[in-house]
Amino acid sequence: MINHSPRRLLPYEYDKYHHHLTRLDNDSKRLRFGITVSNEFIRTFCESVKNAPDEHVLFGIEDRHLNLIAVAHVALDEQANDIELAFSVLKRHQGQGLGNALFKRVLQWCRVNNKLKGSIICLPSNLAIKHLCTKWGLEVVTDAVDSHVDISLPQADFNTHVSEIQDAGTAVINYYANRIMRPFVIV
Ligand SMILES: CC(C)(COP(=O)(O)OP(=O)(O)OC[C@H]1O[C@@H](n2cnc3c(N)ncnc32)[C@H](O)[C@@H]1OP(=O)(O)O)[C@@H](O)C(=O)NCCC(=O)NCCS
Repeated sequence: MINHSPRRLLPYEYDKYHHHLTRLDNDSKRLRFGITVSNEFIRTFCESVKNAPDEHVLFGIEDRHLNLIAVAHVALDEQANDIELAFSVLKRHQGQGLGNALFKRVLQWCRVNNKLKGSIICLPSNLAIKHLCTKWGLEVVTDAVDSHVDISLPQADFNTHVSEIQDAGTAVINYYANRIMRPFVIV
């Protein structure tokens, strides 16, 4: 069973993002990037993420083999104090609540870290992400070319901070639990 606690990845783990994105099926890759992309494009994209860890925050959910099956990407524009969010869940794990878990943690992290303004861009046909945005209080505006979400989050309150501390702690416990249990995992 997958534990739904997204964990903030450390920069030395960013190589795993490349592996995750290349494992997406073609349709999910197209939905993730908004265009049809090659693995070469993904490699270059991930290199740029890896080379600028101050500008990219990643939250991931691992399977029992420690592969990333779901990732939320926060691209930071520090000068504009702006964020852009993107999400990806491997096909066989979609529809099981991982996207919701990523949304909860990422929006909470953004609020706690005072990253309150930004955007999500997706294809108008991407009903799942549009549903999640609306569900998590983000308004989706669709035109002929794309669907656009202007993120405007409320400042974190006391409960947001406490919840973030709890979720970060749970993710660390799961990190160790997954690694301690790994030798006993039956494939
Ligand atoms: C979008 C994505 C991240 C969602 O992840 P997920 O793990 O499947 O999400 P969840 O299972 O937590 O929730 C999906 C929700 O969307 C709903 N949904 C799924 N398909 C839908 C559709 N065609 N129309 C409307 N709602 C839909 C589900 O019913 C569920 O709703 P609920 O939260 O009210 O129960 C995942 O599908 C994905 O990686 N897609 C490919 C990449 C992509 O589109 N990225 C977004 C661009 S930034």
